Amino acid sequence: MKGLFLTLEGIDGAGKSSHIDALEALFKAQGRQVTRTREPGGTPLAEALRAQILEQPMDALTESLLVFAARRDHVVRVIEPALARGDIVLCDRFTDATFAYQGAGRGFDPSVLSTLEQWVQAQPDSGVHALLQPDITVWFDLPPETAAERLAGARLPDKFESQPVEFFRRVAAGYAQRAASAPRFVRIDANQSREQVWQQIEAALAERGFVASDSGGAP
Ligand code: TYD
Repeated sequence: MKGLFLTLEGIDGAGKSSHIDALEALFKAQGRQVTRTREPGGTPLAEALRAQILEQPMDALTESLLVFAARRDHVVRVIEPALARGDIVLCDRFTDATFAYQGAGRGFDPSVLSTLEQWVQAQPDSGVHALLQPDITVWFDLPPETAAERLAGARLPDKFESQPVEFFRRVAAGYAQRAASAPRFVRIDANQSREQVWQQIEAALAERGFVASDSGGAP
């Protein structure tokens, strides 16, 4: 069976993480093997880099290099082998987050990010210009003000979560721009109840033929 690379994206507080359990259950109910992972992270080296990226102040180039270094290890050790086995790879964030956070949020040069993307996601066996990209990206779209309200009072914020709402307005605009350029994006209106958000996700997966439409399941 062919592997499927599914990523979840959105600004902090958009609620994406709360649907990963249900996604895993949905695919497992269809007899699929699921590899569940996240970025930055997913390998011992990438998790060590994550801790630094989320806590240490650093310039945007350093941050981008570390994010892509973590990604390279993750792609080579986890994502590509899982896809080759035919797994469903559920990944909490991937390169779209780098374009949104480091690119749009921090104002870092997107052409440098594109170059790093070419290096890190190259698939030399699949053609000269082929890059590893998600098959489907579930984008949780939520107004930054609402996300900030949801985050307020939650656990201790990390380096990104403690950014002002203006930062998240830029990140959200970065996601919107990226979503407009790639049909693999599915926009989910995350400004709804958890159950309604889940129904949108299920409907989008069914519409694209990734799960049977009568599969049921709830978060
Ligand atoms: P997040 O995915 O929200 O995990 P948690 O729910 O455990 O906080 O945290 C990852 C943070 O890292 C998030 O604020 C976005 C940021 N990030 C980047 O800035 N660039 C990237 O390329 C990635 C993958 C994440």
